[in-house]
Amino acid sequence: MRIRLFPFVGFLAIGFLYIQFGFTQQLTPEEQLGKELFFDKISAPPNMSCATCHDAKMGWTGPVAGVNAHGGVYRGAVPQRFGNRKPPSTAYTTFSPVFSFDVVRGEFVGGSFWDGRATGERLGNPAADQALGPFLNPVEQNMPSVEAVVDHVAESKYADLFEEVWGSGSLQGSAGEVYDLIGLSIASYEASSEVNPFSSVYDVYWVTSIAAGNDPEDVGLGEGEKAVLDPLSILTDQEFDGLIEFGEYCAPCHVSNKFGPGNVPPLFTSFEYDNIGVPKNPENPFYDMDKVFLENGMPINPLGDAFIDFGLGDFLRTRPEWAGMADDNDGKFKIPTLRNVDKRIGRGVPKAYMHNGVFKSLKDVVHFYNTRDVPEEGWPPPEVDTNVNRELFEGVPLGNLELDEEAEDAIVAFLKTLTDGQ
Ligand code: HEC
Ligand code: HEC
Repeated sequence: MRIRLFPFVGFLAIGFLYIQFGFTQQLTPEEQLGKELFFDKISAPPNMSCATCHDAKMGWTGPVAGVNAHGGVYRGAVPQRFGNRKPPSTAYTTFSPVFSFDVVRGEFVGGSFWDGRATGERLGNPAADQALGPFLNPVEQNMPSVEAVVDHVAESKYADLFEEVWGSGSLQGSAGEVYDLIGLSIASYEASSEVNPFSSVYDVYWVTSIAAGNDPEDVGLGEGEKAVLDPLSILTDQEFDGLIEFGEYCAPCHVSNKFGPGNVPPLFTSFEYDNIGVPKNPENPFYDMDKVFLENGMPINPLGDAFIDFGLGDFLRTRPEWAGMADDNDGKFKIPTLRNVDKRIGRGVPKAYMHNGVFKSLKDVVHFYNTRDVPEEGWPPPEVDTNVNRELFEGVPLGNLELDEEAEDAIVAFLKTLTDGQ
C-alpha cells in the first residue's frame, strides 16, 4: 500500500510544480516587453542583442563553441573589442538581493555581475540596474548614449507595447526615466517563468521528496536512505551519490537544501562572494586589449598582460563606505547558480566555467576543487593569491577533498540533473 501511495503523492506534487511555476503561463505584457528588448539588436553597429551572449539554449550564457573552448570572453559589437569576463547565466539571478554587507555573517551578499557592482541601489533591483550597463558599454553593445537607446525603442515595433505597459506618453518622458523603465522591463522578463522554469530533474526530486514528508535539509543534502528521500526514483544511484558528495562539499556555497525567496526550489547559490583560487585564463583576449583603443584614445586594458581581476575587492575600492574592506575581498567573485550549468546547444559543444572561463568541463571543475592544493597535480597558481578559501567542510579542506574518480564522476552526474526542460 505504501509503495503505491508514493507515486500518487508524487503525481500531485508534480502537478503542484507545474501550477506554481507555470510552464504554460503566458508572459505578462511587462515580461513580453522585456523579452523584446532582450532579443533586439540595440547596438552600434546593430549586430548584437543581450541574447548574443546569453543564449537560452546554452543555459543563458555564451553559445559560440570556439569562444568557449578558448578565451571564454565574447567580442563586443565593435568586433576588435573584448571585455574581461565570461558571461554568467542570466537565469535565476533575479533572486539576488540588493547588494549589502551582512554584519552577522561578515560577508557581502547580493548584487548583479561577478563583482556585485550592479548593486540594485538605483532601481531597488540588481537585475534592473544591471540591464542599464551593456547597451552603453563600449566593449559590449556600444550605443553612444542613453538618448540613442531610447530613440531606438521609440521607433521599434514594440513601442506601443511599451506605452501599454508604462502608460501612454511614457516614451516621451526624459531619456533617463525611459531608460530606467527599459531596465525594469528587462529584469521583469529575467524574473519570468520562461527564464526560470524550475523544470530540472532536481526540481522534480525536490518537490516529490518534500511532498512525501521529508525535511528540506535532508532532501537537499542527500542525508538519508535513497528509498525514503527519493521514493519515485527520480535520481539514478550515481546522481544520488553525487548529491551526497555535493551536500558535503558544495552546498555550503551552492545552496541545494533551502528554499529560495518566495518558496522556490533551491537556487544553488547563497549570492555571497568567495575566492576559490581560480587560475588565470591565459587565452583571455583581454590581455591583448592594450593594443585596442576606445574613441577617447584610451586602451581598453592599459595593463595588458599584467592585468589581474581582483573581482569584488576592486568594486569595493570604488565606494568610500566599503573601501576599507577591499583588501579582504580581493579575488572574490559572486557564487554563481549551478542551474543549467551543463545545458548546451548540442552534445559535445564546449562551455567555459568561472569568471574568466578557464575551465572547459565540469569534470575539470570538480577535479580542481578536489585537488587544487595537491602539489603533484600541478595546478597553476590562483589569479589572486590572497583570501583563497581553504575552509574545512566535513573536516576536509577545500582544495584537497580526497575524492576518488568515482566520487568526482558522481558529482558531475548530479550537476547534470540541474538542466531545465528535461
Ligand atoms: C558582449 C557580450 C554580452 C552582451 C551583449 C550582454 N552581456 Fe550580460 N554579461 C556579459 C558578461 C561578460 C557579464 C559578466 C560581466 C561582469 O561580471 O563584469 C554579464 C553579466 C550579466 C548579468 C549578471 C548575472 C549575474 O548573475 O551576476 C546579467 C543579468 C546580464 N549580463 C544581462 C544582460 C542583459 C540584460 C544584456 C542586454 C541589455 C546583456 N547582458 C548583454 C556579457 C554580455
Ligand atoms: C566556498 C564557496 C564554494 C564552494 C564550497 C564551492 N564553490 Fe563552486 N563556486 C564558488 C565561486 C565563488 C565560484 C566562482 C569563482 C570564480 O569565477 O572565480 C564558483 C564557481 C563554480 C562553477 C562554475 C559555474 C559557472 O557558471 O562558471 C561550478 C561548476 C562550481 N562552482 C561547482 C562547484 C562544485 C561541484 C563544488 C563542490 C565540489 C563547489 N562548486 C564548491 C564558490 C564555491
